[in-house]
Amino acid sequence: MADLSRIGVSLDSDLLHRFDQFIAEKGYENRSEAFRDLIRDRLVGTAVVASKAPVVGTVTLVYDHHTRLLPEKLADLQHQYHQVVISTLHAHLDHNTCLEVVLLRGRSRDVQRLADTLISTKGVRHGRLVLSSPHTVSARLPSPR
Ligand code: NI
Repeated sequence: MADLSRIGVSLDSDLLHRFDQFIAEKGYENRSEAFRDLIRDRLVGTAVVASKAPVVGTVTLVYDHHTRLLPEKLADLQHQYHQVVISTLHAHLDHNTCLEVVLLRGRSRDVQRLADTLISTKGVRHGRLVLSSPHTVSARLPSPR
Protein backbone atom coordinates (compact mmCIF):
# COMPACT_ATOMS: atom_id res chain seq x y z
CA MET A 1 0.00 0.00 0.00
CA ALA A 2 1.48 3.33 -1.07
CA ASP A 3 1.59 6.34 1.28
CA LEU A 4 -0.50 5.22 4.20
CA SER A 5 -2.40 8.15 5.73
CA ARG A 6 -4.02 8.10 9.12
CA ILE A 7 -7.31 9.88 9.63
CA GLY A 8 -9.58 10.40 12.61
CA VAL A 9 -13.29 9.77 12.18
CA SER A 10 -16.01 10.93 14.57
CA LEU A 11 -19.01 8.63 14.88
CA ASP A 12 -21.87 8.54 17.33
CA SER A 13 -21.59 5.58 19.71
CA ASP A 14 -24.65 3.82 18.36
CA LEU A 15 -23.35 3.92 14.78
CA LEU A 16 -19.93 2.72 15.92
CA HIS A 17 -21.53 -0.14 17.86
CA ARG A 18 -23.48 -1.22 14.79
CA PHE A 19 -20.34 -0.92 12.67
CA ASP A 20 -18.40 -3.13 15.10
CA GLN A 21 -21.19 -5.72 14.98
CA PHE A 22 -21.12 -5.57 11.18
CA ILE A 23 -17.36 -6.07 10.93
CA ALA A 24 -17.46 -8.92 13.46
CA GLU A 25 -20.16 -10.67 11.42
CA LYS A 26 -18.18 -10.15 8.21
CA GLY A 27 -14.99 -11.43 9.80
CA TYR A 28 -12.84 -8.32 9.48
CA GLU A 29 -9.75 -8.29 11.67
CA ASN A 30 -9.96 -4.57 12.35
CA ARG A 31 -11.94 -1.42 11.62
CA SER A 32 -9.39 -0.02 9.18
CA GLU A 33 -9.77 -2.93 6.78
CA ALA A 34 -13.56 -2.66 6.96
CA PHE A 35 -13.43 1.11 6.34
CA ARG A 36 -11.18 0.61 3.30
CA ASP A 37 -13.56 -1.97 1.81
CA LEU A 38 -16.61 0.23 2.36
CA ILE A 39 -14.88 3.22 0.78
CA ARG A 40 -13.72 1.18 -2.23
CA ASP A 41 -17.21 -0.21 -2.65
CA ARG A 42 -18.71 3.28 -2.71
CA LEU A 43 -16.08 4.53 -5.16
CA VAL A 44 -16.78 1.64 -7.53
CA GLY A 45 -20.49 2.40 -7.19
CA THR A 46 -19.83 5.99 -8.20
CA ALA A 47 -17.53 5.05 -11.08
CA VAL A 48 -19.97 2.61 -12.66
CA VAL A 49 -22.90 5.05 -12.55
CA ALA A 50 -21.54 7.12 -15.47
CA SER A 51 -23.24 5.72 -18.57
CA LYS A 52 -20.04 5.54 -20.64
CA ALA A 53 -17.85 4.22 -17.84
CA PRO A 54 -16.14 0.90 -18.60
CA VAL A 55 -17.50 -1.76 -16.27
CA VAL A 56 -17.38 -5.48 -15.68
CA GLY A 57 -20.27 -7.36 -14.17
CA THR A 58 -22.09 -10.59 -13.58
CA VAL A 59 -25.77 -11.29 -14.02
CA THR A 60 -27.13 -14.21 -12.04
CA LEU A 61 -30.39 -15.69 -13.33
CA VAL A 62 -32.55 -18.44 -11.88
CA TYR A 63 -35.29 -19.72 -14.15
CA ASP A 64 -37.51 -22.65 -15.06
CA HIS A 65 -36.31 -24.13 -18.32
CA HIS A 66 -39.80 -25.53 -19.03
CA THR A 67 -41.11 -22.00 -19.48
CA ARG A 68 -41.97 -21.88 -23.16
CA LEU A 69 -39.14 -20.49 -25.32
CA LEU A 70 -37.37 -18.98 -22.31
CA PRO A 71 -33.94 -20.62 -22.80
CA GLU A 72 -34.08 -19.58 -26.47
CA LYS A 73 -35.02 -16.00 -25.58
CA LEU A 74 -32.17 -15.71 -23.09
CA ALA A 75 -29.69 -17.11 -25.61
CA ASP A 76 -30.99 -14.78 -28.36
CA LEU A 77 -30.50 -11.75 -26.10
CA GLN A 78 -26.93 -12.78 -25.35
CA HIS A 79 -26.23 -13.13 -29.08
CA GLN A 80 -27.73 -9.69 -29.70
CA TYR A 81 -25.34 -8.23 -27.13
CA HIS A 82 -22.38 -10.45 -28.02
CA GLN A 83 -19.97 -7.50 -27.74
CA VAL A 84 -20.63 -7.24 -24.00
CA VAL A 85 -21.04 -10.93 -23.13
CA ILE A 86 -17.71 -12.52 -22.20
CA SER A 87 -18.96 -15.93 -21.12
CA THR A 88 -21.91 -17.81 -19.65
CA LEU A 89 -21.94 -20.48 -16.97
CA HIS A 90 -25.00 -22.70 -16.89
CA ALA A 91 -25.90 -25.20 -14.17
CA HIS A 92 -28.96 -27.48 -14.16
CA LEU A 93 -29.98 -27.25 -10.50
CA ASP A 94 -32.78 -29.82 -10.67
CA HIS A 95 -35.34 -31.17 -13.18
CA ASN A 96 -36.87 -27.73 -13.70
CA THR A 97 -34.47 -25.08 -12.49
CA CYS A 98 -31.51 -23.52 -14.24
CA LEU A 99 -28.88 -21.21 -12.78
CA GLU A 100 -27.08 -19.02 -15.27
CA VAL A 101 -24.25 -16.58 -14.58
CA VAL A 102 -23.39 -14.23 -17.43
CA LEU A 103 -20.06 -12.36 -17.40
CA LEU A 104 -20.28 -8.93 -18.95
CA ARG A 105 -17.81 -6.22 -19.94
CA GLY A 106 -18.50 -2.93 -21.66
CA ARG A 107 -19.95 0.51 -21.15
CA SER A 108 -22.08 0.81 -18.06
CA ARG A 109 -25.15 1.74 -20.09
CA ASP A 110 -24.94 -1.33 -22.37
CA VAL A 111 -24.17 -3.75 -19.56
CA GLN A 112 -27.08 -2.46 -17.47
CA ARG A 113 -29.46 -2.53 -20.42
CA LEU A 114 -28.71 -6.17 -21.18
CA ALA A 115 -28.90 -7.11 -17.50
CA ASP A 116 -32.28 -5.38 -17.12
CA THR A 117 -33.61 -7.13 -20.21
CA LEU A 118 -32.41 -10.57 -19.08
CA ILE A 119 -33.72 -10.13 -15.54
CA SER A 120 -37.12 -8.82 -16.67
CA THR A 121 -37.67 -11.60 -19.21
CA LYS A 122 -40.89 -13.42 -18.40
CA GLY A 123 -40.17 -16.66 -16.55
CA VAL A 124 -36.94 -15.52 -14.89
CA ARG A 125 -37.66 -16.16 -11.22
CA HIS A 126 -34.77 -14.21 -9.79
CA GLY A 127 -32.05 -12.06 -11.26
CA ARG A 128 -29.34 -9.82 -9.93
CA LEU A 129 -26.64 -7.67 -11.55
CA VAL A 130 -23.36 -7.03 -9.73
CA LEU A 131 -21.20 -4.33 -11.29
CA SER A 132 -17.57 -3.57 -10.69
CA SER A 133 -14.90 -1.35 -12.14
CA PRO A 134 -12.24 -3.07 -14.27
CA HIS A 135 -9.73 -0.53 -12.93
CA THR A 136 -8.04 -0.98 -9.62
CA VAL A 137 -9.91 1.03 -7.05
CA SER A 138 -6.88 1.80 -4.94
CA ALA A 139 -5.63 3.85 -7.88
CA ARG A 140 -7.40 7.05 -8.88
CA LEU A 141 -10.74 6.52 -10.54
CA PRO A 142 -11.66 8.46 -13.64
CA SER A 143 -14.21 11.07 -12.68
CA PRO A 144 -17.69 10.16 -13.92
CA ARG A 145 -18.90 12.34 -16.78
NI1 NI B 1 -30.44 -25.93 -17.26
